[in-house]
Amino acid sequence: SGRINVAIDGPAGAGKSTVARKVAEQLGYIYVDTGAMYRAVAYAAIGAGIGPDDSDKLGRLVQTLRIELAPGSEGQTVWLNGENVTSAIRTREVTLIVSQIASHEPVRLKLVGLQRALADSKGIVMDGRDIGTHVLPGAEVKVFLVASVEVRALRRFQELSGDQAVPIEQLEREIAERDRSDERREISPLICAKDAEVIDSTELTIDQVVERILDLCRTKT
Ligand code: C5P
Repeated sequence: SGRINVAIDGPAGAGKSTVARKVAEQLGYIYVDTGAMYRAVAYAAIGAGIGPDDSDKLGRLVQTLRIELAPGSEGQTVWLNGENVTSAIRTREVTLIVSQIASHEPVRLKLVGLQRALADSKGIVMDGRDIGTHVLPGAEVKVFLVASVEVRALRRFQELSGDQAVPIEQLEREIAERDRSDERREISPLICAKDAEVIDSTELTIDQVVERILDLCRTKT
């Protein structure tokens, strides 16, 4: 049976990366976390002292970056010019600017090119915001994964602890803000593809979501 590509899009904190990783594992496919690539650019911008609105400088910066994803024990290991940035790209400092960084055309052009090349030989599960609509419009399975903002903030709250702890109300505001800017940007906004299956994970377990997606895949392979 032939290999397919699976696109999983949706707002922040809907569980895309956990679900996508498990689906890939079950199918023996490669998982690609495109959000991690935008986060790596945001991290590099902070390091280079480039503001999140400076499109020209960000466009030049992104050309100098070598971003590599490798399967790791906890999801994906992310390398930036040979440096392991897997945890550095998950800080709030990065999270608070990544959406602005991702709104610039030169940044998106570069990363979309990398993403399409990764998916060329099929057998990919890719998660992000514009995978089904723009990066891989021909993906055989497309899922738009949603959940209530309260549940998404709660999940994020449970991930953060110790000196990273943030009040849940603040997380709710930040998630809602990131959704708004991802939905309203001009280039490839977060939007459900016409041919995507909407899955609401608010009251589903991770395994239930994974099972639904695997069912969709079985009808295509
Ligand atoms: O998936 P994650 O929450 O890590 O993504 C971080 C940010 O990267 C998103 O809020 C969005 O602004 C951007 N992004 C994007 N397109 C993608 C994946 C992520 O614009 N395909």
